[in-house]
Amino acid sequence: MIASQRGNELYLLERNSKEQKPKRVNDEDSVQVIRSLYGEPTYRSVLNALSDYSSTAVLSYLVECTVSPQAIQRGAGDPQIQQLAMWIQGYAQKSSSKLLTFVDIGAGNGDLLDAICASGCGHQIMYIPVEPNERYWESIQMRMRQTANLEFQDVRKTAKDVKDADVVFLVNVLHELDLHTRVELISQSLGLTYDRGVVVIHEVANLPIGEADFVMWSGEDLRTIFENAKMQIYITSARTKSRPGGWPIETICIKALEPPPESNRLLKGAILSLPGILKRWTDELALNPMSDIRKELRDRIKAFRMAQVANLSVWNQKYGALKV
Ligand SMILES: C[S@@+](CC[C@H](N)C(=O)[O-])C[C@H]1O[C@@H](n2cnc3c(N)ncnc32)[C@H](O)[C@@H]1O
Repeated sequence: MIASQRGNELYLLERNSKEQKPKRVNDEDSVQVIRSLYGEPTYRSVLNALSDYSSTAVLSYLVECTVSPQAIQRGAGDPQIQQLAMWIQGYAQKSSSKLLTFVDIGAGNGDLLDAICASGCGHQIMYIPVEPNERYWESIQMRMRQTANLEFQDVRKTAKDVKDADVVFLVNVLHELDLHTRVELISQSLGLTYDRGVVVIHEVANLPIGEADFVMWSGEDLRTIFENAKMQIYITSARTKSRPGGWPIETICIKALEPPPESNRLLKGAILSLPGILKRWTDELALNPMSDIRKELRDRIKAFRMAQVANLSVWNQKYGALKV
């Protein structure tokens, strides 16, 4: 696979049995390698693409889509953390229960702790992180200990190791999971919070940095899935921008109004919904003029929509054929 980032940069994707990573190549010899590997038409296309900023920005996003996802490193004042802090503050202030159990599924480095800290409500919270990747555990443990007035429990490897919760957070997690895993996690989260709380799905609605095999579900997509699964839930979704003219961030809150059924019913609902979800995102790609999006972001958002439609098409074929 080939791509370029700026007009004068070219990347080849190196593959070996363990990893695939883009390697920068930028001299005439490398372009000649492309000619010998892929032939004259590809060579010409690459030269054309290299001279057009828009296509190189799209290509570089698509190259990112070959790399496995990782928990991001956030800077101070991160807008997603600030929004989560506001949400936590609002929820904690309304709640009459003394200690709220917050379960952070897919906790990564434990960044939700920054939001808890910024909310000023740490003293009202029992924090339970769920993170299958042990690489992050030390960082989570350290940050839990450093968060003033917070009660917390040890990191759990899976959501099955938790008994109940007032709030389950899934922050930037669902988009990287395959269909079965995400349906299972949503079901488990609804089960943990049934009769007492809510599930909060918080995602940067248009993935700013491409990653392998992502599929984003918007609030509207999820609403369709629950309808098709005939599940009694209450769902709200709200979108804001990370900053004026920045990336859209979506907060989705779901409350189960009946004991959640087996995850298989949600799986069936999701599979039934895939053609409609694919159509919605295809229309978004084809028809949305992006006039409301800042010029510098347009190419990456277009690339995001292209990758989303491509990945959803794969899901539609792969899962549509399943008998559930
Ligand atoms: C993009 S990171 C998000 C981390 C964190 N929530 C944040 O916003 O910084 C996704 C996290 O989900 C975790 N994850 C992947 N599969 C999971 C699963 N089946 N159950 C729980 N967490 C999972 C990954 O290990 C990773 O830490």
